[in-house]
Amino acid sequence: MWSAKKWKSALQALSFLLVLFLHRQASADYNWVVKESTYTRLCSTKSILTVNGKFPGPVLRAYAGDTVYVNVHNRGRYNITIHWHGVKQPRNPWSDGPEYITQCGIQPGGSFRQKIIFSIEEGTLWWHAHSDWSRATVHGPIFVYPKPGTSYPFPKPHAEVPIILGEWWKSDVMEVLDEFVRTGGTPNVSDAYTINGQPGDLYPCSKSETFKLSVDQNKTHLLRIVNAAMNSILFFSVANHNLTVVAADAAYTAPISTPYITISPGQTIDALLFTDQQPGSYYMAARAYQGNLAIGFDNTTTTSIVEYKDGNGNGKTPPLFPYLPYYNNTNAAFGFFNSLKSLAINQTDVVKTTTTRMVSTVSVNTLPCLGNQTCEGPNGTRLAASMNNISFVDPRVDILQAYYYYIKGVYKEGFPDFPPLIFNFTAEDFPLILEIPERDTKVKVLEYGSDVEIVFQNTNLVAGIDHPMHLHGHSFHIVGTGFGNFDVKKDPLSFNLVDPPLRNTVTVPLSGWAAIRFKARNPGVWYLHCHLERHLTWGMHTVFIVKNGKHPNETLLPPPPDMPPC
Ligand code: C2O
Ligand code: CU
Repeated sequence: MWSAKKWKSALQALSFLLVLFLHRQASADYNWVVKESTYTRLCSTKSILTVNGKFPGPVLRAYAGDTVYVNVHNRGRYNITIHWHGVKQPRNPWSDGPEYITQCGIQPGGSFRQKIIFSIEEGTLWWHAHSDWSRATVHGPIFVYPKPGTSYPFPKPHAEVPIILGEWWKSDVMEVLDEFVRTGGTPNVSDAYTINGQPGDLYPCSKSETFKLSVDQNKTHLLRIVNAAMNSILFFSVANHNLTVVAADAAYTAPISTPYITISPGQTIDALLFTDQQPGSYYMAARAYQGNLAIGFDNTTTTSIVEYKDGNGNGKTPPLFPYLPYYNNTNAAFGFFNSLKSLAINQTDVVKTTTTRMVSTVSVNTLPCLGNQTCEGPNGTRLAASMNNISFVDPRVDILQAYYYYIKGVYKEGFPDFPPLIFNFTAEDFPLILEIPERDTKVKVLEYGSDVEIVFQNTNLVAGIDHPMHLHGHSFHIVGTGFGNFDVKKDPLSFNLVDPPLRNTVTVPLSGWAAIRFKARNPGVWYLHCHLERHLTWGMHTVFIVKNGKHPNETLLPPPPDMPPC
């Protein structure tokens, strides 16, 4: 007979082997096929672009520090690229994904084996297409677990649940894109928001498919929430339940209990849901936060249901509906953002002294209509968008290749460190001339090891709105946000350099500013852009080139052999 002790050690050995096995699984090669699939939503059927026929797409699972390979096969009709949002990819911009920035599109029939290098990220991230508007349906979550042998900085949850917030158009999104690019106007707003691909009970023909989360009472569920919507910052909440936020953008936060969250496109939130209510059904719901109600937006509400397993009233009485702040409640939106603070492990790298300081305006602009066209922007103009008054023009060959192989004429250096003109950015009215940006392909070059501060100054040119600004290849600390014009002398005095949240996407408030700091220690070509898709299409972006450092482990990795041709 084995003693209890012997059993215990045998079990330990077994579970160690299991962990090893699972770990190997996580490092395996995956095959992803981008292809059209037929989906029915809102009483109509259409063909959408998917990965492996799934919407939302497959979950990518990894342990912190893993390297994972995904073979992306394009069996669709358009060029496509895939981006691993929030994965820093140390020294490896080759697999980062944004079209014309780090690669050209994978052509129909082509393949690209992407190497995804995880480092310090832990929590939830996501992947999405990064060419034209394909990301509307080509996206999915990434779950990054603590390394085997380590644990979460909170009690282990009983279950984990992806909550993917999306946006659905009845028409083909490529047509939505083509139309507003052609006319110079705004894109048609979406017809629904979705939770895990389903609009929910409040939309026609949707009720039977509503996503339901079946739960046991008095258990902790880890909600892995992703805002994969194209153009909407969202409020999300669960009826009768507070959420305990434990991570944002795959960096742990000091836990905070909150009745709702605000989440911008690109952002992720890990939140614990403790099922301590009476058995029954409770709605989870999401709808837009829209700081400026004069701008058209989808004002519908998506729902799913938390259903207690032992609830005998299930399905008989309608689920309780949660509190959501009103659409334009900026205080509620930023009250949540500003409540997030880093957990100790993410406080160590806060930049205290900067070597590079930049201020960049983020603006919606207008361009004159060309030739004999009629344009649908304000007063017959074409809408555009800019950073420091440069509306970015995508090159034909990607910037990474141009940089690596010294190809001339693809991009220019010298993205300005400051706005070209200082005026009252948050005024109500402007002379028309201020609305017209330059169109150019200008990048900002950073020395390896730079300690960078960027202040994003929102402007009310054309129409003020909040902008979720996302940086590839890095996370940054959000050291401050405020309303009005950034005051270079006064505002830095109140920066939080102690426990600022570590994120990859910062929401710049309407009529306000946000300041971020990061250490440029990742050589490569890294995109910086607004994650509202229409603003990205209009040119609200630029690129950082971080040069190689001195040591061999501070230099770019060589390109993979199968980079898609331009
Ligand atoms: Cu979600 Cu440029 O990325
Ligand atoms: Cu924007």
